[in-house]
Amino acid sequence: PRLWLIVPAAGIGQRMQAGQPKQYLRIDQRFILDITLSRLMDSAPFSGCMVPLHPADHWWPDTEASRDSRIQTCTGGSERACSVLSALHAMAEQVADDDWILVHDAARPCLHTRDLSNLIERLYDHPVGGLLASPVADTLKRADTGELHEVAETVDRSDLWRALTPQMFRYRLLVDSLEAALREELPVTDESSAIEFSGNMPVLVEGRPDNLKITVPADLALAGFILSRF
Ligand code: CTP
Ligand code: MG
Repeated sequence: PRLWLIVPAAGIGQRMQAGQPKQYLRIDQRFILDITLSRLMDSAPFSGCMVPLHPADHWWPDTEASRDSRIQTCTGGSERACSVLSALHAMAEQVADDDWILVHDAARPCLHTRDLSNLIERLYDHPVGGLLASPVADTLKRADTGELHEVAETVDRSDLWRALTPQMFRYRLLVDSLEAALREELPVTDESSAIEFSGNMPVLVEGRPDNLKITVPADLALAGFILSRF
């Protein structure tokens, strides 16, 4: 099977409050989207890459990635899952059913090459696929339903992991699972949840916890620091 990449970049970055989508903020002069895309494209033998963009996006032509002939764009949707599905549909003619699709957030520029190659190596012969994830380090509390947020209990974290990206699944299974989950209005916050709803069991591959998704303003400086130590 061949490897294909989808990097959803159609979000507006509401929580970042930057007045522009966060994937077009810069770290060390470069767009976050360019840092993310070049790291991925330079680190694994992808046959192609699809980047769903917001319909009103006007930054893309200024990226380095727009001059890379291996990278194509399509129009994203109102939710992340819709953007990924639109990319999957846009790739349909080039991709075989059992080819691998890796989906990685544009807002995660701090992915280490080693984690990417581990993920691919571990899952390449698997029928379903899986995702990078990191064991939960925090002590977790469940709150009761009252306004005071009193602690109802401390949650056992020994089998809890944080889902990261890339997430890597077979093309046909991913398309069918996402379509079904969206049709049934199930909560699909990542590809894995759609695969889980379809009754399949994705594999967790341990990745570095510093593969952070830039979400709130403080994350920008943190990502810059992590990248400076690569
Ligand atoms: N994304 C997308 N299409 C959407 C929503 C999100 O392609 N309709 C992408 C974002 O561009 C981002 C990734 O999915 O690279 C992860 O989403 P998130 O961190 O939630 O980004 P935003 O939706 O842009 O941020 P916010 O939720 O704060 O508005
Ligand atoms: Mg979002």
